[in-house]
Amino acid sequence: MTVAGMYADFAVREARDASATYERLSGAVARDGALLARIDTLPPAKRQPNLLFSVVRYLGGPVGDPAAFHEWVLANWAAVEAAVLTRATQTNEVGRCAALLPVLAGLPQPLALLEVGTSAGLCLYPDRYAYRYGDRLVGSGEPVLKCAATGLEPPAGLPEVVWRAGLDLNPLDVTDPADLAWLEALTWPEHEHRRARLRAAAAVAAADPPLLVRGDLVDDLPALAARAPAGATLVVFHTSVLFYVPPPRRAAFTDLVRDLPGHWVAVESADVLGLGGLPDPPGDTLHNVVALDGRPLAWTRPHGQAISWFG
Ligand SMILES: C[S@@+](CC[C@H](N)C(=O)[O-])C[C@H]1O[C@@H](n2cnc3c(N)ncnc32)[C@H](O)[C@@H]1O
Repeated sequence: MTVAGMYADFAVREARDASATYERLSGAVARDGALLARIDTLPPAKRQPNLLFSVVRYLGGPVGDPAAFHEWVLANWAAVEAAVLTRATQTNEVGRCAALLPVLAGLPQPLALLEVGTSAGLCLYPDRYAYRYGDRLVGSGEPVLKCAATGLEPPAGLPEVVWRAGLDLNPLDVTDPADLAWLEALTWPEHEHRRARLRAAAAVAAADPPLLVRGDLVDDLPALAARAPAGATLVVFHTSVLFYVPPPRRAAFTDLVRDLPGHWVAVESADVLGLGGLPDPPGDTLHNVVALDGRPLAWTRPHGQAISWFG
C-alpha cells in the first residue's frame, strides 16, 4: 500500500468513530504531497499514522488543524524524524484488565503473573484496580475500569497476585516522565478518560514497580517463567501483542507457552490466534477474543470497554 493509501485507510477504518481529529488529519495527510514525500523517507515500519501523530503530540506540535500540522512538521522535521526512529507504538491500555479479570479470578489462587508484550506493565495490576461491569462494582481501587458485560457473571472478588513480571522488546518505565509522556501521547486526542486512567494506573505501578525484562516473547520467556515463585499458579498472558509478531514466531510462542506449567490467557484478534468456528461477534466494530489455554471464552472490544461471554 502507498503511504497516501495508508493514511486514507487509517482515516476511514481506524480513526472514524474513534477520533474526529485523527480522521480529519489522516485524510488531509493522504492528500498532502510534501508531507507524503517526507514520510516516504522513513523506514516502512515507521510510516504509520499513529506513530507520526503521537510523535507530533509528544513534541508539542498541533494535530487539530491539518494546515498547522503541515507547517509544523516540515519546520521541525529533524526532531520528528529522530523521535519516530526511537519511539514505537506501544500503547499500554489498562482497560484491557476488565477482559482479563473474569478469567484470572477463576484460576487457582494465588497467581504469579507474567505478561509478554507488557509495554509499561500496567496490565500487571488487575488486583489493584476497580471494575464496573454494568451496575456491579468489583474492587475498590483506582482507576475504575468500566466494562459493558453480556453473558458474564462478574467475579465476586479480585485475584490474589503474589508475583508480577513483564517481558517486552522495549519496556517503558512509568517513573520516567518521558516514557509516561509518550504513553499519554499514544492515547488519542479525544480520549481524555483513557489518559486519566493511564495516569491513575501509572501511579499504582510507580508505587510498587513490577519486574520488567527487556527481551523477546519466545527467546526470553522460559528464563523469566523459571523465576516465578513455587506455590503460585503461573499465568502467562498477553493483550494486543501477537499482531506485531511475525506468524512463524507466533507459532513458536504458542508452542512454547503451552509447554509451560500453569495457564495461558490471550486477548488478541481471532485471526492472530488462528481461532475459527467462533460465534459472531456482537456488532460490526472490532472485537478481540479472550482465550484460556487456547480455548475461546469471550469477545471483547479493543480497550476492554465491553465483554460478551460465550464460553
Ligand atoms: C500494542 S502494545 C500492547 C501493550 C500491552 N499488552 C497492552 O495491551 O496495553 C504491544 C507491545 O508488544 C511488544 N512486543 C512486540 N513484539 C514483541 C516481542 N517479540 N517480544 C516482546 N514484546 C514484544 C511491543 O514492544 C509493545 O510494547
